[in-house]
Amino acid sequence: MTTGAETEFARAVIAGLSQRPRVIPARFLYDKYGSELFEAITRLSEYYLTRAEVWLLRAHGPDIAHLSGHGRVLVEFGSGSSAKTPLLLDHVKATAYLPIDISADYLHASASAFAATHPGLDVLPLAADFTKPLSLPAMVAGEPKLGFFPGSTIGNMTHRAAVTLLRAFRDTLGPGTRLVIGIDTRKDPRLIQAAYNDAAGLTAAFNLNLLRRINRELEGTIPVRAFRHRAFWNDTLGRTEMHLVTAEDVAFHAAGHNFHLDAGDSIHTENSYKYTLEEARLLARASGWEPLVAWTDPNRLFALHLWAAEPDRIEP
Ligand code: AVJ
Repeated sequence: MTTGAETEFARAVIAGLSQRPRVIPARFLYDKYGSELFEAITRLSEYYLTRAEVWLLRAHGPDIAHLSGHGRVLVEFGSGSSAKTPLLLDHVKATAYLPIDISADYLHASASAFAATHPGLDVLPLAADFTKPLSLPAMVAGEPKLGFFPGSTIGNMTHRAAVTLLRAFRDTLGPGTRLVIGIDTRKDPRLIQAAYNDAAGLTAAFNLNLLRRINRELEGTIPVRAFRHRAFWNDTLGRTEMHLVTAEDVAFHAAGHNFHLDAGDSIHTENSYKYTLEEARLLARASGWEPLVAWTDPNRLFALHLWAAEPDRIEP
């Protein structure tokens, strides 16, 4: 691929590496290689999140259906391979499935595969960045919705960005909506530490791939071997942070700009906020949602929350 300060990735890299502390937004971790590495991470013994969430969906799919009623349009934010969708869809008897994903090619392939295994279901893929305002197709306008936001993707956002996003979901989905959202819990930091520093080194490869992606797509000359993966729990801010730390002084160019880092300097590549059940409920209320139920697995590794859109009304 070619360079060009005109791409969103190029703009983010230039701005993020010029800022102090240096950052690159986590959403850029997911190119083709990054997405494959993340898929592999979800199968690691240390990465408890996916396994616990799938367990919760299996255990509580019927409860979600009971509490939100049948016959809604299922709207999934960041649908990816739609792997978790059947766990909900089969119980809630959705009238249509509307997967939203930023990666258009991947979305359309997954949507066709999904439609093939669910004959009779309307599958309406929407290629869009769900962090930007979006409008749903007119044909589902008046229908009741069930939003689905699994995977603790919300954890990648600061509290401020999370509130903005969840409010936008409420505005997009409309009155009477329910939202099923998976949110990683605060827990023994040793478990979190292990999940982001796996023994096989997949998380390190996932993080370092960001530098390789810059080299591939933005004509970068980053000496990737000089960098180390670093992930740690920040107890004050309630989040895991991922960084790329250089072991030596490095100079390189990327996207037509020159950059320099001293030995020990870092590039912050991801935050993964964890929420107690009470913190998650506060997040809901601050975003126009009423928390209805929260389920956790026996080890309290993960939480599945069901929220209802709060009606617009005058408060005392
Ligand atoms: C997909 C954002 C939930 O934060 O745990 C996995 C991404 N980062 N290992 C997470 C991730 C490092 C993941 N989310």
